[in-house]
Amino acid sequence: MTESGQRVRAVAPGRVNLIGEYTDLVDGLVLPMAIDRVTTVDGVRGGGVIELRSSADPDPVMVPIDADDPIGQASGWGRLVAAVVAELQPSIGFRGTVSSTVPIGMGLSSSAALTVAVALAFGFEGTPPELAALARRAEQRGTGVPCGIMDQLASAAGVAGHALLIDCAGPSVEPVPMPGEVEIRVIPTGVVRQVAQSAYGERKAALDRAAEVLGPLRFVEDPDRLEVLDDPVVRRRVRHVVTENLRVVEATDALRAGDIARFGAVLDDGHRSLRDDLEVSLPVIDALVERLESVPGVHGVRLTGAGFGGCVVAVADPGVLDEGWRVEPSAGAHLVG
Ligand code: GLA
Repeated sequence: MTESGQRVRAVAPGRVNLIGEYTDLVDGLVLPMAIDRVTTVDGVRGGGVIELRSSADPDPVMVPIDADDPIGQASGWGRLVAAVVAELQPSIGFRGTVSSTVPIGMGLSSSAALTVAVALAFGFEGTPPELAALARRAEQRGTGVPCGIMDQLASAAGVAGHALLIDCAGPSVEPVPMPGEVEIRVIPTGVVRQVAQSAYGERKAALDRAAEVLGPLRFVEDPDRLEVLDDPVVRRRVRHVVTENLRVVEATDALRAGDIARFGAVLDDGHRSLRDDLEVSLPVIDALVERLESVPGVHGVRLTGAGFGGCVVAVADPGVLDEGWRVEPSAGAHLVG
């Protein structure tokens, strides 16, 4: 029940994807973890308007809950908030603030943290997969990017101390304990993602075309089957997805066995596939990955997220890297108090 005058604080984390890139688009497997960087929405329910202020923006976002076209009237981060309003259709307004420790535009799902946090603050009731599905639809409507479910589900369903093995077909979520003796670091590439939006749509279109020929890509396990695809570019894109699903399984097995060397080697392979088959890396990112891989005590490094910039993720012995920042596997979105 959403009550007028009720004080609310909703918290939702960003995520880092350990392995399983672009596989959520074709109902595949992913292994992200929610991180200890969060978006917090604080305020009071009441009235008929959503009014949110951010310390990062002098202009508040104002959306009447009964607006005909809330998204059309909004701009910037307000589009995401308005898209949540359009999807959730809250029965009561909200007045408050949003603040975030998730770095923006760095491949750590700052926008998923925002949509999940505001949906909870505005009165969403349901399971974490339902919350993620609503936030995903809001993200698609607010940004026009045909994203998968991974980011929103990692934010909604995170478990402290665990990565999440997600089968995007369900979706179903299985927490996988992260070994304590290893450090997960994210290191900014320094590249601002500019082409990501159109390139993301192109990758999705290529995978959808291939699925028309091959059937659900999730069930394509024999790489020889890709020979029926005429276009060598499409063949490479599909090879990435087919091998990436296998890497998620292998990485999960390695984590469960406490075999960090194997886990890291799978991440290294994953980067090569992003570079050569999916082609979402850049030479400057490859150089960063190679340099970090050569540091003793670093077990694996790969570009994380949609590519063309953002961050790399490194798995290392504690203390051997001082670049970027250490992230801890954290709890998913929740209301405080
Ligand atoms: C973005 C999307 C996700 C996923 C990744 C790539 O983060 O929002 O759904 O497709 O890219 O793995």
